[in-house]
Amino acid sequence: MIEFSKNPIKIEENGILKFVENDNYTASFGYQWNKFQKTQLDRFGNDVYQSSSRLLAETAWVVETLEEANILEVGSGAGRFTRALLENTKANVFSVDYSAAVEVNFENNSVYGTRLHLCQASIYELPYKPQQFDKVICFGVLQHTPDFKRSVRCLAEMVKKGGELVVDFYPVKGWWTKIHAKYIFRPLTKRMSHQSLLALLERNISWLIKLYQIFEAVGIGRVANRFVPICDIKNTLPKGLSEHQLKEWALLDTFDMFSPVHDHPQKIETVKKWMAEAGLKVTFGAFISLEAGQAAVVRAIRT
Ligand SMILES: C[S@@+](CC[C@H](N)C(=O)[O-])C[C@H]1O[C@@H](n2cnc3c(N)ncnc32)[C@H](O)[C@@H]1O
Repeated sequence: MIEFSKNPIKIEENGILKFVENDNYTASFGYQWNKFQKTQLDRFGNDVYQSSSRLLAETAWVVETLEEANILEVGSGAGRFTRALLENTKANVFSVDYSAAVEVNFENNSVYGTRLHLCQASIYELPYKPQQFDKVICFGVLQHTPDFKRSVRCLAEMVKKGGELVVDFYPVKGWWTKIHAKYIFRPLTKRMSHQSLLALLERNISWLIKLYQIFEAVGIGRVANRFVPICDIKNTLPKGLSEHQLKEWALLDTFDMFSPVHDHPQKIETVKKWMAEAGLKVTFGAFISLEAGQAAVVRAIRT
Protein backbone atom coordinates (compact mmCIF):
# COMPACT_ATOMS: atom_id res chain seq x y z
CA MET A 1 0.00 0.00 0.00
CA ILE A 2 1.37 3.37 -1.03
CA GLU A 3 0.96 5.95 1.75
CA PHE A 4 0.14 9.58 1.11
CA SER A 5 1.91 12.41 2.90
CA LYS A 6 -0.90 14.97 2.58
CA ASN A 7 -4.60 15.36 1.84
CA PRO A 8 -5.90 16.48 -1.57
CA ILE A 9 -7.68 19.80 -1.96
CA LYS A 10 -10.28 17.99 -4.06
CA ILE A 11 -11.23 14.49 -5.13
CA GLU A 12 -12.77 14.49 -8.61
CA GLU A 13 -15.77 12.26 -9.34
CA ASN A 14 -13.56 10.11 -11.57
CA GLY A 15 -11.21 9.51 -8.62
CA ILE A 16 -8.38 11.90 -9.59
CA LEU A 17 -6.80 13.42 -6.49
CA LYS A 18 -6.08 17.13 -6.91
CA PHE A 19 -3.36 18.64 -4.76
CA VAL A 20 -3.01 21.86 -6.81
CA GLU A 21 -5.12 24.24 -8.89
CA ASN A 22 -4.80 24.44 -12.71
CA ASP A 23 -3.45 28.00 -12.88
CA ASN A 24 0.27 27.34 -12.61
CA TYR A 25 3.24 27.53 -15.01
CA THR A 26 2.16 24.32 -16.77
CA ALA A 27 -1.08 25.82 -18.14
CA SER A 28 0.31 25.57 -21.71
CA PHE A 29 0.56 21.80 -21.23
CA GLY A 30 -3.00 21.58 -19.92
CA TYR A 31 -4.09 23.36 -23.12
CA GLN A 32 -1.81 21.31 -25.38
CA TRP A 33 -2.84 17.89 -24.08
CA ASN A 34 -6.51 18.82 -24.26
CA LYS A 35 -6.08 19.79 -27.92
CA PHE A 36 -3.92 16.77 -28.84
CA GLN A 37 -5.41 14.10 -26.60
CA LYS A 38 -4.65 11.02 -28.68
CA THR A 39 -2.03 12.14 -31.20
CA GLN A 40 0.94 10.38 -29.59
CA LEU A 41 -0.95 7.59 -27.93
CA ASP A 42 -0.02 4.05 -28.98
CA ARG A 43 -2.79 2.12 -30.74
CA PHE A 44 -5.14 4.87 -31.77
CA GLY A 45 -5.53 4.34 -35.46
CA ASN A 46 -2.02 5.12 -36.56
CA ASP A 47 -0.28 1.88 -35.54
CA VAL A 48 2.66 3.82 -34.21
CA TYR A 49 4.00 1.97 -31.17
CA GLN A 50 6.51 4.65 -30.38
CA SER A 51 5.81 5.11 -26.68
CA SER A 52 6.02 1.44 -25.72
CA SER A 53 9.25 0.88 -27.59
CA ARG A 54 10.74 4.08 -26.17
CA LEU A 55 9.76 3.08 -22.62
CA LEU A 56 11.30 -0.37 -22.98
CA ALA A 57 14.46 0.92 -24.67
CA GLU A 58 15.06 3.66 -22.12
CA THR A 59 14.35 1.61 -19.01
CA ALA A 60 15.78 -1.77 -20.15
CA TRP A 61 13.29 -3.34 -17.74
CA VAL A 62 12.46 -7.02 -17.67
CA VAL A 63 8.76 -6.36 -17.48
CA GLU A 64 7.83 -9.81 -16.16
CA THR A 65 9.53 -8.89 -12.87
CA LEU A 66 7.23 -5.92 -12.31
CA GLU A 67 3.99 -7.76 -11.53
CA GLU A 68 3.63 -6.51 -7.96
CA ALA A 69 5.61 -3.32 -8.47
CA ASN A 70 4.53 0.21 -7.67
CA ILE A 71 5.65 2.56 -10.42
CA LEU A 72 5.54 6.34 -10.12
CA GLU A 73 5.43 8.41 -13.31
CA VAL A 74 5.92 12.16 -12.91
CA GLY A 75 4.82 14.57 -15.64
CA SER A 76 2.54 12.20 -17.53
CA GLY A 77 0.88 14.66 -19.95
CA ALA A 78 -1.83 12.95 -21.99
CA GLY A 79 -0.60 9.60 -20.68
CA ARG A 80 1.28 7.97 -23.55
CA PHE A 81 3.85 6.46 -21.17
CA THR A 82 1.15 5.77 -18.56
CA ARG A 83 -0.50 3.64 -21.23
CA ALA A 84 2.81 2.00 -22.15
CA LEU A 85 3.44 1.19 -18.46
CA LEU A 86 -0.05 -0.26 -17.97
CA GLU A 87 0.08 -2.17 -21.24
CA ASN A 88 3.56 -3.67 -20.84
CA THR A 89 3.52 -4.49 -17.12
CA LYS A 90 1.07 -5.71 -14.51
CA ALA A 91 2.29 -3.07 -12.06
CA ASN A 92 0.31 -0.43 -10.18
CA VAL A 93 0.95 2.88 -11.89
CA PHE A 94 0.86 6.13 -9.93
CA SER A 95 0.82 8.94 -12.42
CA VAL A 96 1.22 12.62 -11.63
CA ASP A 97 1.06 15.82 -13.64
CA TYR A 98 1.00 19.44 -12.51
CA SER A 99 -1.42 20.46 -15.28
CA ALA A 100 -5.03 19.74 -16.15
CA ALA A 101 -3.69 17.04 -18.50
CA VAL A 102 -4.43 14.48 -15.75
CA GLU A 103 -8.06 14.59 -16.92
CA VAL A 104 -6.94 13.65 -20.45
CA ASN A 105 -4.80 10.86 -19.02
CA PHE A 106 -7.90 9.53 -17.23
CA GLU A 107 -9.93 9.64 -20.47
CA ASN A 108 -7.17 7.81 -22.30
CA ASN A 109 -6.29 5.18 -19.72
CA SER A 110 -9.17 4.61 -17.28
CA VAL A 111 -9.87 1.44 -19.26
CA TYR A 112 -6.97 -0.15 -17.32
CA GLY A 113 -9.03 0.07 -14.11
CA THR A 114 -7.74 0.07 -10.57
CA ARG A 115 -4.05 -0.29 -11.48
CA LEU A 116 -4.08 3.40 -12.50
CA HIS A 117 -3.85 6.05 -9.77
CA LEU A 118 -3.92 9.66 -10.96
CA CYS A 119 -2.93 12.80 -9.05
CA GLN A 120 -2.60 16.43 -10.08
CA ALA A 121 0.43 17.57 -8.11
CA SER A 122 3.86 19.12 -8.56
CA ILE A 123 7.14 17.27 -8.73
CA TYR A 124 8.25 19.59 -5.87
CA GLU A 125 5.39 18.52 -3.60
CA LEU A 126 4.68 14.94 -4.48
CA PRO A 127 1.92 13.73 -2.18
CA TYR A 128 3.59 10.46 -1.17
CA LYS A 129 5.73 9.49 1.80
CA PRO A 130 9.39 9.05 0.75
CA GLN A 131 11.06 5.88 -0.52
CA GLN A 132 8.01 3.79 -1.40
CA PHE A 133 8.31 3.20 -5.15
CA ASP A 134 10.06 0.31 -6.95
CA LYS A 135 10.42 2.39 -10.10
CA VAL A 136 10.15 6.12 -10.76
CA ILE A 137 10.13 7.47 -14.30
CA CYS A 138 10.11 11.02 -15.58
CA PHE A 139 10.19 11.38 -19.38
CA GLY A 140 10.31 14.69 -21.24
CA VAL A 141 9.62 16.74 -18.12
CA LEU A 142 12.74 17.87 -16.26
CA GLN A 143 13.74 20.56 -18.79
CA HIS A 144 10.29 22.07 -18.33
CA THR A 145 10.66 22.51 -14.56
CA PRO A 146 12.09 25.71 -13.09
CA ASP A 147 14.85 24.01 -11.06
CA PHE A 148 16.17 20.86 -12.78
CA LYS A 149 18.47 19.86 -9.91
CA ARG A 150 15.76 20.18 -7.25
CA SER A 151 13.40 18.18 -9.49
CA VAL A 152 15.95 15.35 -9.62
CA ARG A 153 16.22 15.43 -5.82
CA CYS A 154 12.44 15.27 -5.41
CA LEU A 155 12.21 12.28 -7.76
CA ALA A 156 15.09 10.50 -6.02
CA GLU A 157 13.30 10.90 -2.68
CA MET A 158 10.47 8.69 -3.96
CA VAL A 159 12.71 5.71 -4.82
CA LYS A 160 12.72 2.89 -2.27
CA LYS A 161 15.78 0.84 -1.32
CA GLY A 162 16.57 -1.40 -4.28
CA GLY A 163 14.33 0.75 -6.48
CA GLU A 164 15.28 2.66 -9.62
CA LEU A 165 14.85 6.11 -11.13
CA VAL A 166 14.91 6.56 -14.93
CA VAL A 167 14.74 9.99 -16.55
CA ASP A 168 15.08 11.40 -20.05
CA PHE A 169 15.43 15.05 -20.93
CA TYR A 170 16.54 17.59 -23.53
CA PRO A 171 20.33 17.36 -23.59
CA VAL A 172 22.94 20.05 -23.97
CA LYS A 173 25.11 18.63 -26.75
CA GLY A 174 27.47 21.59 -27.10
CA TRP A 175 27.69 25.36 -27.52
CA TRP A 176 25.37 25.13 -30.54
CA THR A 177 22.42 23.64 -28.63
CA LYS A 178 20.76 26.99 -28.09
CA ILE A 179 21.52 28.35 -31.55
CA HIS A 180 18.16 27.23 -32.79
CA ALA A 181 14.88 28.79 -33.92
CA LYS A 182 13.29 27.49 -30.74
CA TYR A 183 15.47 29.58 -28.47
CA ILE A 184 15.39 32.59 -30.82
CA PHE A 185 11.58 32.80 -30.88
CA ARG A 186 10.70 31.44 -27.41
CA PRO A 187 11.05 34.78 -25.56
CA LEU A 188 8.12 35.94 -27.70
CA THR A 189 6.10 32.75 -28.20
CA LYS A 190 6.03 31.66 -24.55
CA ARG A 191 4.31 34.97 -23.75
CA MET A 192 1.63 34.58 -26.44
CA SER A 193 -1.80 33.29 -25.51
CA HIS A 194 -2.01 29.56 -26.17
CA GLN A 195 -4.91 30.09 -28.58
CA SER A 196 -3.02 32.71 -30.64
CA LEU A 197 0.15 30.63 -30.79
CA LEU A 198 -1.67 27.49 -31.91
CA ALA A 199 -3.66 29.47 -34.51
CA LEU A 200 -0.43 31.01 -35.84
CA LEU A 201 1.18 27.58 -36.14
CA GLU A 202 -1.92 26.09 -37.77
CA ARG A 203 -1.80 28.79 -40.45
CA ASN A 204 1.87 28.16 -41.20
CA ILE A 205 2.58 24.50 -40.50
CA SER A 206 2.11 23.25 -44.10
CA TRP A 207 4.71 25.50 -45.72
CA LEU A 208 7.08 25.04 -42.77
CA ILE A 209 6.95 21.25 -43.29
CA LYS A 210 7.62 21.75 -47.02
CA LEU A 211 10.55 24.06 -46.36
CA TYR A 212 12.01 21.58 -43.86
CA GLN A 213 11.65 18.76 -46.40
CA ILE A 214 13.25 20.80 -49.19
CA PHE A 215 16.25 21.62 -47.00
CA GLU A 216 16.59 17.91 -46.18
CA ALA A 217 16.27 16.92 -49.85
CA VAL A 218 19.03 19.28 -51.01
CA GLY A 219 21.34 18.17 -48.20
CA ILE A 220 21.45 21.32 -46.07
CA GLY A 221 18.83 20.27 -43.52
CA ARG A 222 21.23 19.70 -40.65
CA VAL A 223 22.20 23.35 -40.47
CA ALA A 224 19.42 25.20 -42.29
CA ASN A 225 16.57 23.50 -40.44
CA ARG A 226 17.91 24.76 -37.11
CA PHE A 227 16.56 28.13 -38.23
CA VAL A 228 13.17 26.94 -39.49
CA PRO A 229 10.64 27.44 -36.69
CA ILE A 230 9.31 23.89 -36.66
CA CYS A 231 10.10 20.76 -34.65
CA ASP A 232 12.84 18.42 -35.86
CA ILE A 233 10.67 16.22 -38.08
CA LYS A 234 13.43 13.85 -39.16
CA ASN A 235 14.91 13.19 -35.73
CA THR A 236 11.89 13.28 -33.43
CA LEU A 237 8.77 12.11 -35.28
CA PRO A 238 7.97 8.47 -36.10
CA LYS A 239 8.59 7.29 -39.64
CA GLY A 240 5.74 6.41 -41.98
CA LEU A 241 3.17 8.98 -40.86
CA SER A 242 0.51 9.91 -43.41
CA GLU A 243 0.48 13.54 -44.58
CA HIS A 244 -2.40 14.30 -42.22
CA GLN A 245 -0.68 12.60 -39.26
CA LEU A 246 2.60 14.38 -40.03
CA LYS A 247 0.83 17.74 -39.88
CA GLU A 248 -0.84 16.88 -36.57
CA TRP A 249 2.38 15.54 -34.96
CA ALA A 250 4.41 18.49 -36.24
CA LEU A 251 1.82 20.95 -34.96
CA LEU A 252 1.84 19.32 -31.51
CA ASP A 253 5.63 19.16 -31.23
CA THR A 254 6.08 22.70 -32.54
CA PHE A 255 3.53 24.06 -30.05
CA ASP A 256 5.33 22.01 -27.38
CA MET A 257 8.65 23.66 -28.22
CA PHE A 258 7.39 27.24 -28.35
CA SER A 259 4.79 27.44 -25.56
CA PRO A 260 6.26 26.16 -22.26
CA VAL A 261 7.35 28.70 -19.66
CA HIS A 262 10.51 26.68 -18.94
CA ASP A 263 12.98 25.03 -21.30
CA HIS A 264 16.30 24.25 -19.63
CA PRO A 265 18.28 21.49 -21.36
CA GLN A 266 21.05 19.82 -19.36
CA LYS A 267 24.26 17.84 -19.85
CA ILE A 268 24.06 14.11 -19.18
CA GLU A 269 27.13 14.31 -16.94
CA THR A 270 25.51 17.03 -14.81
CA VAL A 271 22.33 15.01 -14.33
CA LYS A 272 24.41 11.98 -13.31
CA LYS A 273 26.19 14.14 -10.73
CA TRP A 274 22.87 15.44 -9.35
CA MET A 275 21.50 11.90 -9.03
CA ALA A 276 24.57 10.88 -7.06
CA GLU A 277 24.23 13.97 -4.85
CA ALA A 278 20.61 12.95 -4.25
CA GLY A 279 21.86 9.70 -2.73
CA LEU A 280 21.41 7.32 -5.69
CA LYS A 281 23.96 5.14 -7.48
CA VAL A 282 24.09 5.97 -11.17
CA THR A 283 23.93 2.82 -13.32
CA PHE A 284 23.61 4.38 -16.79
CA GLY A 285 23.93 7.76 -18.46
CA ALA A 286 24.14 8.08 -22.25
CA PHE A 287 22.23 8.63 -25.45
CA ILE A 288 19.94 5.82 -26.52
CA SER A 289 18.94 5.37 -30.16
CA LEU A 290 15.22 5.28 -30.74
CA GLU A 291 13.06 4.67 -33.79
CA ALA A 292 13.19 8.43 -34.30
CA GLY A 293 16.41 10.08 -33.13
CA GLN A 294 18.04 9.75 -29.75
CA ALA A 295 17.12 10.26 -26.09
CA ALA A 296 19.39 11.40 -23.29
CA VAL A 297 18.77 8.88 -20.50
CA VAL A 298 20.07 8.57 -16.95
CA ARG A 299 19.25 5.64 -14.65
CA ALA A 300 20.11 5.25 -10.98
CA ILE A 301 19.24 2.96 -8.08
CA ARG A 302 18.96 3.36 -4.31
CA THR A 303 21.33 0.86 -2.74
C1 LIG B 1 6.54 17.67 -22.64
S1 LIG B 1 5.31 17.14 -21.55
C2 LIG B 1 5.70 15.41 -21.44
C3 LIG B 1 4.51 14.58 -21.08
C4 LIG B 1 4.75 13.06 -21.15
N1 LIG B 1 5.77 12.63 -20.23
C5 LIG B 1 5.10 12.67 -22.56
O1 LIG B 1 6.29 12.47 -22.84
O2 LIG B 1 4.21 12.61 -23.39
C6 LIG B 1 5.89 17.73 -19.97
C7 LIG B 1 4.87 17.48 -18.85
O3 LIG B 1 5.50 17.80 -17.60
C8 LIG B 1 4.53 18.37 -16.77
N2 LIG B 1 5.21 19.14 -15.71
C9 LIG B 1 5.96 20.25 -15.84
N3 LIG B 1 6.34 20.71 -14.62
C10 LIG B 1 5.84 19.83 -13.72
C11 LIG B 1 5.89 19.76 -12.30
N4 LIG B 1 6.49 20.70 -11.55
N5 LIG B 1 5.30 18.72 -11.70
C12 LIG B 1 4.65 17.75 -12.42
N6 LIG B 1 4.54 17.79 -13.76
C13 LIG B 1 5.13 18.82 -14.41
C14 LIG B 1 3.70 19.23 -17.72
O4 LIG B 1 2.45 19.57 -17.20
C15 LIG B 1 3.63 18.35 -18.96
O5 LIG B 1 2.46 17.57 -19.02
